[in-house]
Amino acid sequence: MSRLQNKTALITGGNSGIGFATAKEFLEQGATVIITGRSQASLNEAKKELNGKVHTILSNTSNLGEIRSLAKQVQQITPQLDVVFINAGIGKFAPIEAVTEEHFDEQFNTNVKGAYFTIQELLPLIKDGGSIILNTSISAHMGMATSSVYSATKAALLTLTRTLSAELLPRRIRVNAISPGPVTTPIFGKMGIPAEQIDGLKTSIQGQVPIGRFGEPAEIAKVATFFASDDSSFVLGAELIADGGMITL
Ligand SMILES: NC(=O)c1ccc[n+]([C@@H]2O[C@H](COP(=O)([O-])OP(=O)(O)OC[C@H]3O[C@@H](n4cnc5c(N)ncnc54)[C@H](OP(=O)(O)O)[C@@H]3O)[C@@H](O)[C@H]2O)c1
Repeated sequence: MSRLQNKTALITGGNSGIGFATAKEFLEQGATVIITGRSQASLNEAKKELNGKVHTILSNTSNLGEIRSLAKQVQQITPQLDVVFINAGIGKFAPIEAVTEEHFDEQFNTNVKGAYFTIQELLPLIKDGGSIILNTSISAHMGMATSSVYSATKAALLTLTRTLSAELLPRRIRVNAISPGPVTTPIFGKMGIPAEQIDGLKTSIQGQVPIGRFGEPAEIAKVATFFASDDSSFVLGAELIADGGMITL
């Protein structure tokens, strides 16, 4: 299969989890792939494992200066991009009384400011008729206690999906969102939750998923491939919820 033949795609946070699985899937579908990440060692490891037409760029998405230099680095690899998957993100959870400015800024800087200015910076490189995909979360639709900041960042991305779809109509650039439910990725180990509590948290979440399991990163990668490919040529400003029925049933 080669649904992305002759296309070049950039994936932020492509060294891990959903981003990594998407890089793998895009490569299998014939694309040239650029992955970004905040650690050169992780990027090198991912590149080795991906073993294809993959390029890496070290770029911390919460840092405006690094976003500004991203486009220049992309141009050293390719003059144009067909697909941008805004995937890099973090999730931290705390009751509102315990939320600090640092907790708030870290998530908004990564998940919203990073997403916004990455799109702004890469826009001149994205081909007319290209595709931008935002990785949001079903938490944007839920009233999940302790997720006030994380969920707000993802809700912001959902409105961005629609406003940018309208704004980019003259260039026929389609902007769509994927909202995953719980997916087995390293993100749960990065939330600041003590290791011994993570298994309990996962079991409790799994009990809320009608299909009875977490999603696999590869399953989200297939959704990203749909939005990246011409199969979704009539789809814009849309959100595809891939959650094992967690909010849809
Ligand atoms: N897993 C889920 O259950 C789930 C559900 C809904 C939505 N999502 C969303 O899916 C996206 C991918 O998450 P994941 O589950 O695949 O987790 P993950 O494996 O931790 O992947 C997140 C990626 O983003 C990168 N990243 C984080 N902060 C960054 C920064 N400041 N600059 C550059 N890269 C940065 C991470 O780099 P490092 O490897 O260096 O940390 C990693 O490559 C996130 O936006 C997340 O909110 C995940």
